[in-house]
Amino acid sequence: MRAVDIIANKRDGKELSREEIQFLVDGYVAGSIPDYQVSSWAMAVYFNGMTPGETAALTGAMLASGRVMDLSGIPGPLVDKHSTGGVGDKTSLILAPLAAALGIRDPMMSGRALGHTGGTLDKLESIPGYRTNLSIEEFRAFLKKDGFAMTGQTKDVVPADRLLYALRDVTATVESIPLITASILSKKAAEGADALVFDVKYGSGAFMKEATEGEKLARSLVAAGEAMGKKIIALLTDMDEPLGNMVGNFLEVEESLDCLEGRGPADLMEVTLELAARMAVLGKKAAGAKEGRELCEACLASGKPKEKFLANVASQGGDVKKLLELRGNWRSPFMAEVRARPPAGRDVYITRIDAFKVGHAAVSLGVGRGRIEDTVSPTAGVQFHKKRGDKVRSGGAVMTVWAASEEALAAALPSLEQAVEYGTQAPPEKKHILKEISCGRENSSGGGGRA
Ligand code: URA
Repeated sequence: MRAVDIIANKRDGKELSREEIQFLVDGYVAGSIPDYQVSSWAMAVYFNGMTPGETAALTGAMLASGRVMDLSGIPGPLVDKHSTGGVGDKTSLILAPLAAALGIRDPMMSGRALGHTGGTLDKLESIPGYRTNLSIEEFRAFLKKDGFAMTGQTKDVVPADRLLYALRDVTATVESIPLITASILSKKAAEGADALVFDVKYGSGAFMKEATEGEKLARSLVAAGEAMGKKIIALLTDMDEPLGNMVGNFLEVEESLDCLEGRGPADLMEVTLELAARMAVLGKKAAGAKEGRELCEACLASGKPKEKFLANVASQGGDVKKLLELRGNWRSPFMAEVRARPPAGRDVYITRIDAFKVGHAAVSLGVGRGRIEDTVSPTAGVQFHKKRGDKVRSGGAVMTVWAASEEALAAALPSLEQAVEYGTQAPPEKKHILKEISCGRENSSGGGGRA
């Protein structure tokens, strides 16, 4: 078999066999098939898609590229959540300790910043000392002790996703339903969760720009997950505007702590609590989402989830004392304010903050990577003072921006200025949660509120 023939088959719209897919994945992980050939194949998949059979074969080959976590002996059900990626989406940092405080174990395997979206691992690693490259033994031990553990793909566990994820990030091949499905499902199968909540995002800041595309991705994830014997619930959530008020690695850790103290921004709290409610259902702590939500709200108010978060930081090598000292005052010196410049020059409403433009600017600031070898900045990012629906006066501060360097700041500011849209009327209220999708069942959710 030759990689070039497999690329040509996909380019010409043919269905690849399980053997061809296995050959490509194995060769890539072994180093015998180079990045440029896999990039070319990924682009062919981007344009021509994959059948459900090819997607399943890719997921299986990626999973088989490494070891699977053996979580036997750890009482379940083990429940995890995975987001398809967004801007300002820090719900994982809140949900894992919240689930653990409810008595649900969450074995969480996450990713790094991808394209214009942020990554849970990069956020956690902004905590001084925090390690996300856990061995399988450490993962098991922390999961047992703290109720959750946070790790990434390693050279032992789903190495194929570690390589492909980084390659797709810099070759414009992220936005593909089969590649996203295989990437997420191979991690989820390897981490050993019994049940999964998927946060499938749509809107400018998501990989799927339209709700209809988001729904297709949700259905692909639900079908592939259930074929693996997992219990799945997917929520289709809005990602047209950044979630919460902070976008950046350490900034998002800080905002997660605010949420764990019950005082996070309304949009972030809403999405987090709705996802948490579904984790409570799958974890058999609640009979339905309403009961699950009440349980989660009471649990947050008890302060236990924050204790769980800090216990995990200490277990994974993070310096809790330093984290609390840095909270609120660790900022890059390269700073600027973006001020309201409404066209009419008078007091107006913010009608939209384009999440894609913010995410794109965040990469330039140093939050994400432009090339595989780039390192991310812990302190770069954006803090919004105003969001959609807020009234602003001309010249009033909309956001504060911190960058990894003076040049990074200059590169990002135009996109941030352009991200803010103004109008003389308040925009209509927007639902944060559009729909719930699970096997054979779907609900238009009542979740939502002012965006
Ligand atoms: N999250 C993942 O883990 N993989 C993708 O491809 C996209 C989002």
